[in-house]
Amino acid sequence: MSKNPAKEIFFATPKGDVRIRASCKPQQIRRYILDSQFSTHSQYKSLYTRRDTLEEIAQQPDTNVVLALIEANTIIGFGVLAYPEPGERWPELGPQIMVEVKAIEVARPWRSAKIASSILKMVVDHPQIEDKIAYMVGYSWTWDLEGTKKTAQEYRSMLIRLFEPQGFQEYQTNEPNICLKSENVFMCRIGKNISEVILNRFKWLRFGLSPWTWADGGHGT
Ligand SMILES: CC(C)(COP(=O)(O)OP(=O)(O)OC[C@H]1O[C@@H](n2cnc3c(N)ncnc32)[C@H](O)[C@@H]1OP(=O)(O)O)[C@@H](O)C(=O)NCCC(=O)NCCS
Repeated sequence: MSKNPAKEIFFATPKGDVRIRASCKPQQIRRYILDSQFSTHSQYKSLYTRRDTLEEIAQQPDTNVVLALIEANTIIGFGVLAYPEPGERWPELGPQIMVEVKAIEVARPWRSAKIASSILKMVVDHPQIEDKIAYMVGYSWTWDLEGTKKTAQEYRSMLIRLFEPQGFQEYQTNEPNICLKSENVFMCRIGKNISEVILNRFKWLRFGLSPWTWADGGHGT
């Protein structure tokens, strides 16, 4: 995904002007400040609490780090698109087919202003996105129920409303971590160029089976 061109949009929110920048590189991120709201609250810990973590992620090849910035280059939101780790279930579908929205977060004072929607739009605005299955996993134990004052069910619905406009739909799976809580959610965006063969394999893989690897003794095709 390294060929994603740098893009930037500006928009006004009731809380102030915001700049959203895609494909951020480590040397750019180093010039920014991570808003102090990305921290440990009484019942919620932000996914990333140090700017260095975003720099490290941006260093990895094929990662799209999208940042929402306010004046003086303060990061008030982030989104990350990256390939899953090799040990996970999803890379079994084939090299670089499945790609994950690994993070989407907006600092508490800036929420409900469509900043996450704009970040997400730029996360998936990628030349190869139609060749991929993009996915997100929502684990309820990572959600800011305290800050949003939502129940887990309401939060789940909010995430579905956030991801659906970008072409994501909810899919069933028996992946054990996702199945741990009924409010957890797994959503995917199937690229237009994904073949019937891959779609069929994806159906199996969601339930932990990869029969296309069985015929040759499990070495894949
Ligand atoms: C989830 C999170 C990123 C949302 O950020 P946000 O900037 O407030 O999101 P947005 O303003 O773009 O969208 C959220 C709201 O708009 C709604 N929305 C967004 N796009 C919409 C659309 N096209 N149509 C209808 N509703 C829409 C959402 O349902 C939601 O409603 P509400 O906040 O008014 O109840 C934020 O709450 C957060 O940072 N949470 C902590 C981290 C987290 O839980 N990340 C997700 C992990 S899976």
